[in-house]
Amino acid sequence: MQNPSFKHLLGIEHLSCEEIELILQTTDSMKEITQRSIKKVPTLKGKTVINLFFEPSTRTKLSFEIAAKRLSADTIGFSSATSSLSKGENLLDTVKNCEAMLPDVIVIRHPCSGASHFVSQHINCSVINAGDGINQHPTQALLDIFTIKERINDLKGIKIAIIGDIKHSRVAHSDIMLFTKMGANVFVSGPGFLMNPFISVLGAKICDKIEDAICDADVIILLRIQKERFGNGVIPSEREYAMLYGINMNRIKSAKENVIVMHPGPVNWGVELSPDIMDYNNNIILDQVTNGVALRMALLYILSNQGERE
Ligand code: CP
Repeated sequence: MQNPSFKHLLGIEHLSCEEIELILQTTDSMKEITQRSIKKVPTLKGKTVINLFFEPSTRTKLSFEIAAKRLSADTIGFSSATSSLSKGENLLDTVKNCEAMLPDVIVIRHPCSGASHFVSQHINCSVINAGDGINQHPTQALLDIFTIKERINDLKGIKIAIIGDIKHSRVAHSDIMLFTKMGANVFVSGPGFLMNPFISVLGAKICDKIEDAICDADVIILLRIQKERFGNGVIPSEREYAMLYGINMNRIKSAKENVIVMHPGPVNWGVELSPDIMDYNNNIILDQVTNGVALRMALLYILSNQGERE
């Protein structure tokens, strides 16, 4: 395998198309491993991965842990609530102490945008951004594109609609950058107060009407309203939101036949997605979760030797 030029994965903007292809090809190989009856290989034996999660997570945290274990790396979990952060230690001291234990990769999720970038500037091992505030979630975008490409190999010219809380969504930011890089046309729609008016700078077209975003779409991605980022009381009624911006089997009729429906999770069923989508055969939300393990195995494999090249 050729060596990638990146030491950290902090966002999508620095990845070339060749590097994206390398990650996706490596994910394909890792997926084959995950489908064996014994899903473990010795590839990263002797390597150590520290998962620093300063925010709740189910999918990303578990999949990084499983990915490291499937490659035989030692993986150490960290919970901010039971760490010395509760005694006043700051982020920089925390990561410097983690680095002093000589990990090969540090995976970090943090509520502050830019946290993973800050950490990468102060330590020598590779850093993977597992979601930083409202900024980016690059591993989610990469698993999203891998999952789409399993159904639609060539993304050039396809229409991808992203619906919901665009403003607070790190997934939307990374998805838009990645999908447009690969030649897809991205349309976004959602309530005005949850729209980032500058999102077009990333290459997405803003649709005031959700119908314009969905019409003839090949892929629809729903986003959760991130109430934790702006407090309660901003959404007057979830029922009204579901009527205006929720996706159901009736609404997807205006998209392409067999449109793919995706969601990064966690899903609020009955709000952004109607329960009738649960049984839709092109609802590939759990495929995203399955592929998340293979994608994170690929990134740990690619990045676990990068720190040694310094
Ligand atoms: N998609 C995602 O980031 O989910 P978690 O918050 O559960 O990790």
